Amino acid sequence: MANPAALEPVIDTPRLRLSLLEPADAPRVRQYFERNRQHFRIWDPPRPEHFFTDDYWRDKLEQARPDLEADRAIRLWVVRYDAAAGPVIGTVNFTRLVRGPFQCAGLGYSLDEAAVGHGFMQEALRAAITWLFERQGFHRVEANYRPENVRSGRVLAALGFVVEGYARSYLMVDGAWRDHVLTSLTRRSEPAAP
Ligand SMILES: CC(C)(COP(=O)(O)OP(=O)(O)OC[C@H]1O[C@@H](n2cnc3c(N)ncnc32)[C@H](O)[C@@H]1OP(=O)(O)O)[C@@H](O)C(=O)NCCC(=O)NCCS
Repeated sequence: MANPAALEPVIDTPRLRLSLLEPADAPRVRQYFERNRQHFRIWDPPRPEHFFTDDYWRDKLEQARPDLEADRAIRLWVVRYDAAAGPVIGTVNFTRLVRGPFQCAGLGYSLDEAAVGHGFMQEALRAAITWLFERQGFHRVEANYRPENVRSGRVLAALGFVVEGYARSYLMVDGAWRDHVLTSLTRRSEPAAP
């Protein structure tokens, strides 16, 4: 069980806010994925038929708080700090949460195509990982990316993630089992300063 005092994450950075969203925000989330359908397609797992519907996202957003409380997943949405009720511009997800002596979380993230190239993802991840370590008590974050995803690799390297291996046919992405580079960051090496 997560520390109750650390629930309801609202993580502010100079330009961004990361938080859970409510079921009523389903249209904002659906629009984010619709807008970025092509941008994400070659990096994302297969999506269910109704992925691009408000109903799908209402159910998912309903599940977010129970998932957080039960230590199943932490799904954060990124918006501009000065437009917090405006469009969703990114996602930061911690899944595959393992407590006990491992205290490890798997990291996933995405950024609106129009927001790429401004350092938003590094800013979001630096704050989210610091929160995960300091407020949630995790010790290790794992992140894996396709070797072709040069931008993703650069984000992780800038944050201090280290490459731990290379997994062949690791994940079903864009219609085939794709190799992935395996990386991690441990708490004793905090996210690198900007
Ligand atoms: C992966 C992804 C999040 C990277 O986005 P990004 O914008 O390159 O990453 P950042 O937000 O950290 O920005 C870094 C870029 O902003 C530039 N930048 C501008 N201002 C900056 C600042 N203040 N701080 C840091 N970088 C800054 C950097 O030079 C860099 O650009 P460059 O790589 O062209 O030199 C994005 O490409 C994406 O969503 N891709 C599709 C989904 C995906 O791949 N998800 C990950 C699967 S593993």
